[in-house]
Amino acid sequence: MDSAKWLDIGPVDQLPSLGARTLPVQGGKEIAIFHTANGEVYALINECPHKQGPLSEGIVHDTTVTCPLHSWRISLIDGHALGDDEGCVPVIPVKIDNGRIFIGRAEALQGQG
Ligand code: FES
Repeated sequence: MDSAKWLDIGPVDQLPSLGARTLPVQGGKEIAIFHTANGEVYALINECPHKQGPLSEGIVHDTTVTCPLHSWRISLIDGHALGDDEGCVPVIPVKIDNGRIFIGRAEALQGQG
């Protein structure tokens, strides 16, 4: 694993199933890490494209999360709002290696400034 490119953020089994945890980024935007029912892991900037609701507190269903504020459904795969809603939140690439989660370093730091 190329550590210049990938950031180790800890073991998969510390992520609650169907839940999320947040990862503060120094000087940048908080990231939400999601765990789906079938064990996949996704990372998005923790801000709903509607009014910056904390997506990490939403409900995960399949590969979507429902925003806790006004119930927009956001794709965990590409960050787009689903249905009639429009907007997109940045997605951070994720890799699982040896039971650990790695996220794209450059993308994670992009929310800076
Ligand atoms: S802030 Fe997420 S739906 Fe309104």
